[in-house]
Amino acid sequence: MKKVTVVGAGAVGATCADVLAQKNFLDEVVIVDIKEGLAEGKALDIWESSAINHFDTRVIGSTNDYSKTEGSDVVVITSGIPRKPGMSRDDLISTNAKIVKSVTDNVMAASPDAIIIVVSNPLDVMTYAAHMASGKDASKVFGQAGVLDTARYRAFIATELNVSPMDIQALLLGGHGDTMVPLPRYTTVSGIPVTELIPKERLDAIVERTKKGGGEIVNLLGTSAWYAPGASAAQMVESVILNQNHIFPCCVRLDGQWGEKDVYLGSPVKLGRNGIEEIIEIELNDEELALLHASSQHVKDVMKVYDDMKLF
Ligand code: 2OP
Repeated sequence: MKKVTVVGAGAVGATCADVLAQKNFLDEVVIVDIKEGLAEGKALDIWESSAINHFDTRVIGSTNDYSKTEGSDVVVITSGIPRKPGMSRDDLISTNAKIVKSVTDNVMAASPDAIIIVVSNPLDVMTYAAHMASGKDASKVFGQAGVLDTARYRAFIATELNVSPMDIQALLLGGHGDTMVPLPRYTTVSGIPVTELIPKERLDAIVERTKKGGGEIVNLLGTSAWYAPGASAAQMVESVILNQNHIFPCCVRLDGQWGEKDVYLGSPVKLGRNGIEEIIEIELNDEELALLHASSQHVKDVMKVYDDMKLF
């Protein structure tokens, strides 16, 4: 029996549950939300698409009853408010920190052995919050950001070169915010270094667009993205449940890599049955290291805001 819970039936959570169901590798997906009827309604709607979309993963909704989530192998936390135009992800901390703490407590009571994937913003610090609240090993609590950010970066490169986004292999480090560090030096198109295919000024513009990719959607929609974030979380779940050992950039607690410790930052990891199987400390040049440290400092500043909230 393979079971995944998605907490939060907003657009990201519902998309994640829908993508998981359509991938059809789970027995059950449970969606939980605090708002009466929302999770049940979305779960029922997704389940009613099963005959058309060819899946038999059961999709169940629950209004804040975590007993339905018992025994989950993986729990995806998407709870919290999204940002509006003009807001940074960090502006969400006072509301979302409390939500993520109480959700994690509920998750732990029902599924103490679950691996937890955090999607709520500000992502790096909400991963910290869930890790603190769970008391689990850091390899079992990590955040979704790099899969989304590299997916955006790959989409922009695919548009630029008119090639398949699936041919693009890319890597990105740092926090899920404007200080993230896309790495053109580690980006290839079917094995060809992207630096040989796209002139530097164009590539610099793509990197800048990637950093502000979330904000671009917020400005267009008036709220934050959901298709790519939900699908990204589902891909991480799949790598864990099917023990695929994909190498993805994920938000993890660093333990001395690149001279950074006890900070939650996007880094390449191997993602398998045990969660973070390995953090891969790639070689960085001085410029890349400086960008990583600046991103780390930014996340540490927001972690301090969280600490000052004294939720523990
Ligand atoms: C984004 O980048 C919601 O933070 C998420 O779109």
